[in-house]
Amino acid sequence: MSVELRAITKTFGALVANDAISLRVEDGEIHAILGENGAGKSTLMNILYGLLQPDSGEISVDNKSVTINAPSDALAVGIGMVHQHFMLIPVFTVAENIVLGHEKTKSLGTLDLSQARAEIARISKEFNFDVDPDAVVETLPVGIQQRVEVIRALMYNAKVLILDEPTAVLTPQETDELLTVMKRLKSQGTSIIFITHKLREVQAVADRITIIRRGKVVGTALPSATQEELATQMVGRPVVLALNKKHPAPGRSLLAIKDLTVTDNRGVELVKNINLEVRAGEIVAVAGVQGNGQTELARAILNLEPHCRGEIQIDGENILGRSVSDAIHSGVAFVPESRELDGLISSFSISENLILDVFDKEPYGKKLAMFPSVVRSEAEKRIQEFDIRTQSVTDPVSSLSGGNKQKVVLARELSRPVKVVVASQPTRGLDVGSIEFVHERMIAERDAGRGVLLFSTELDEVFALADRIAVMYKGEIIDIVPATISRSDLGLLMAGVKQVKA
Ligand SMILES: Nc1ncnc2c1ncn2[C@@H]1O[C@H](COP(=O)(O)OP(=O)(O)OP(=O)(O)O)[C@@H](O)[C@H]1O
Ligand SMILES: [Mg+2]
Repeated sequence: MSVELRAITKTFGALVANDAISLRVEDGEIHAILGENGAGKSTLMNILYGLLQPDSGEISVDNKSVTINAPSDALAVGIGMVHQHFMLIPVFTVAENIVLGHEKTKSLGTLDLSQARAEIARISKEFNFDVDPDAVVETLPVGIQQRVEVIRALMYNAKVLILDEPTAVLTPQETDELLTVMKRLKSQGTSIIFITHKLREVQAVADRITIIRRGKVVGTALPSATQEELATQMVGRPVVLALNKKHPAPGRSLLAIKDLTVTDNRGVELVKNINLEVRAGEIVAVAGVQGNGQTELARAILNLEPHCRGEIQIDGENILGRSVSDAIHSGVAFVPESRELDGLISSFSISENLILDVFDKEPYGKKLAMFPSVVRSEAEKRIQEFDIRTQSVTDPVSSLSGGNKQKVVLARELSRPVKVVVASQPTRGLDVGSIEFVHERMIAERDAGRGVLLFSTELDEVFALADRIAVMYKGEIIDIVPATISRSDLGLLMAGVKQVKA
């Protein structure tokens, strides 16, 4: 099925999110859309899927004009979507989510649970998805949750599948599996619109690429284009894909984790007797396959994990077992893995979110009284510096694009005078230009004498930033190696092969 968008324009107040965008997706092609954070990609896709109405413009399917007022209209003409933020109900099973989903149509509205189960099992088998229809969604890893979204779209017989940053939260292996599924769907005649910030993925699967900048189509490209060419076209200037970093000069210990064990409610050890030190002026990366205790280790440093033993010293003072605000006030900046859950208060404005950490301190306010003009000018400074694309600092943070939300967290946490920066997946969802900026900023933090503890599942990021690499596997740090280790040796360590030595 082919889909054509003609001169789609969408404004939010004075902001033109989509400015007369035209795009044609051919039958059975994988069409990638590249663009900076806030360029208007999700907005355009939400229009195609009927979640937003354009101010003007036309959509046609197989060269016939269609009206899409709601997702049910999109599904009826064969357009399905997997969102940037999952829309599954966590406490429901896979089958319940698919049957009771938010997008009821006639065809599926009559489907009962047992039919749904059978159909899920069939699709799951066909694509090697390994999805259990009766599993409760919240117990599934994100990679599997994503497959549930894909299965749902396929059950609606989507002939055009919109994937909005499907790989942002996936492990490298899950990503490769998804790319394989995409190629397979394409070979069966499904068209795919694929949004991603990872140029390698675009090169691997796209047939054609459309590049959007500030709401306008600025060009098209073929996957044979180099990453440098794509990045330049997207950002409008050359991007440094490899950083220049001088030798570290580590000073005193700023973060010392001693014999730390973290357990869950039932006493199962998620982090096992960890010892790790981060000194002033160094970046230590914790590398590992997602789900090996990194999340809990990071949260423990902020006193966000209730069941811990051991010690966590910030500049010599033990903070473990005290409050989150004690951890923050002792000089820890925290970029959480999940900005939606821990990083932002979505009903607050952008400026309030930018100063959440300091709102009770002079010069912003005293106790709960804020001084709006100071808050505003500081927020505006941070927005400028981190290139956060927004209309107004008083807009709710929920109106920002995915990548710009992440930048709000980074701008807040990297603007404070701290001793230690704990950053989990800090560049998740960011465009290549913003990644460059954040990486430079983290190196600047290091060079200014801060200690940086980076949690990242992206090996490129680990190698770009780390001075030392701690490898985490099944809750333990199984080795600490210099950043000169080879990629393949690091990969082996991450897989739990202890013998490898750098
Ligand atoms: N409901 C809304 N109200 C106000 N502004 C909005 C709303 N939704 C989107 N915007 C703005 O429209 C612009 C485009 O946002 P969009 O989410 O389409 O970007 P994107 O290209 O998907 O970016 P990212 O790569 O960060 O996901 C942004 O500046 C965003 O702040
Ligand atoms: Mg988006």
